[in-house]
Amino acid sequence: METVFSGIQPTGELHFGNYLGAIRNWVALQEKYRCFFCIVDYHAMTQNYDPAEMSRRTLDMATDLLSCGIDPDKSVLFVQSSVPEHAELCWILNTVTPFGELARMTQFKDKAERQEDNINVGLFDYPVLQAADILLYKAKLVPVGADQVQHLELAREICRKSTARWGQYFPEPQPLLSSTPKILGLDGQAKMSKSIGNTISLGEPDDVIRKKLATAATDPQRVRRKDPGNPDNCNLHSLHAFFSSQEQVAWVREGCASASIGCLDCKKVLADNVVSHLAPIQQKRQAFAASPGRVEEILREGGRKARAVATETLAEVRKLIGLWS
Ligand code: TRP
Repeated sequence: METVFSGIQPTGELHFGNYLGAIRNWVALQEKYRCFFCIVDYHAMTQNYDPAEMSRRTLDMATDLLSCGIDPDKSVLFVQSSVPEHAELCWILNTVTPFGELARMTQFKDKAERQEDNINVGLFDYPVLQAADILLYKAKLVPVGADQVQHLELAREICRKSTARWGQYFPEPQPLLSSTPKILGLDGQAKMSKSIGNTISLGEPDDVIRKKLATAATDPQRVRRKDPGNPDNCNLHSLHAFFSSQEQVAWVREGCASASIGCLDCKKVLADNVVSHLAPIQQKRQAFAASPGRVEEILREGGRKARAVATETLAEVRKLIGLWS
């Protein structure tokens, strides 16, 4: 069975965009692969953060991942910092990573611009830690969004450099791009993001979901009820594709284009479907909330399993690179 590795930052609760873009995919992958899913708190430290919040955010993220269907009997779900070998391998890989390649990373440049007061070395080194995450488990497949492709290319390059310096050891990882089309936030302007507030969180109560969808941006050309709309210019239409039946999608397309239905009619159907899709996820969330300690237990067990693999890799790597032991 091939190994899959992916990571997500502990931003607290998952939102809709994360779920549709990534997590749904992870849940499917666990049926076919040996999966490691990691909450990357070491990575999160490269941005400004509140130390008093980090551990709660980590637990909230884990709770949401489990509620969405990440199954600890099938996959290893763990927290990066509970396996210190990530940092150790990162150091080792630093010594074969060309400085110039890191300096080209667009995400580093973007973040550096956004946090001018905190351009730390960790932010620069972020992609090497990411490469270490993957190579530590000798993962071949890495499900990521398009924004991570450059980091994956670098991980492949680091892998080749390590082979050139120390001999063949790590398999070269490959990105596994999810086919999810880009879904904009409820404002129809920017990618869904918690900090912009243009998204729905998975734990949101039904009435809030309905209210948020009712006020979400639609085809900007459709100003009045009698104006025909173009579903292909409507941000919400892409959500229908996920949550609604083919008949409903056809009904919406026809009704929107002919102005026989209004945006509110379309949104009502979507809201019903979203609410019923999220119901089992929310039920699981409540069950976890009712048994505190359960999520932590799962993470500790995941950490033990991940660490067993990681220490074995590191023992082999230390020998390979010629360290005294
Ligand atoms: N950088 C990734 C992101 O922001 C998260 C991540 C960290 C990751 N380590 C990883 C993804 C390893 C895939 C593999 O989305």
